[in-house]
Amino acid sequence: MDSQFWAHLGIFLHIVGIVPLSAGAIGTIITDNAVWSNLKSSPTQAAAAARMGKRFSLFAQGGLFILLLSGILLLAARNWFYLGEVWLIIKLVLFGLMLLNGVLVARSTTNLLLELLPNWLAVNGATPSLIVASAVQRGQPLPEPKYNRVTLELMFEQVRRRFELFYISQNIMFAVVLVLATFKFN
Ligand code: HEM
Repeated sequence: MDSQFWAHLGIFLHIVGIVPLSAGAIGTIITDNAVWSNLKSSPTQAAAAARMGKRFSLFAQGGLFILLLSGILLLAARNWFYLGEVWLIIKLVLFGLMLLNGVLVARSTTNLLLELLPNWLAVNGATPSLIVASAVQRGQPLPEPKYNRVTLELMFEQVRRRFELFYISQNIMFAVVLVLATFKFN
């Protein structure tokens, strides 16, 4: 098979990778909105939305992984010709920053949110059934929430701001990567 075939396969997989990345990005923004709009009125729905958000983020991660592999395939198919070009260097730096943003900001913030939500449910008198079941099974009293309402509200505000910063920066980088990749400014 000639290099043109591998280049076509690389472009095909690059497009395939953009689909779950975009779906994950849009999905997490929607579920994140659902978390904040339901947090006070319906905490159990907010908790369900947060769990769904985590699943959507797996789509985005899968997309980035496919983009990385197909990008390497594209570079190899073009005999590494693009490696010295400015657009690709900036694109790769942005790609690295997107990965770091995901690992350092989004992952830790999601884990914090998923840790706070059961406490929030307990503070609101809606203890998750699994926690009740395990306490009953062991004949123990229900666990006390780790944080009080005021602390939780402050921490949720921080989580919300960190997610906002993450989405804004991630989407700006995504848009710049798309423009650089298609126009290939040098
Ligand atoms: C968020 C991540 C990425 C996005 C959204 C993205 C998007 C794109 C788009 C839209 C094109 C234009 C395709 C065309 O001109 O037909 C492209 C081309 C290209 N991408 Fe990516 N890309 C990403 C990551 C990467 C990575 C990590 C690499 C390298 C490891 C890479 C290497 C390339 C190469 C070499 C081309 C030129 C293909 C050619 O015209 O022959 N990309 N990319």
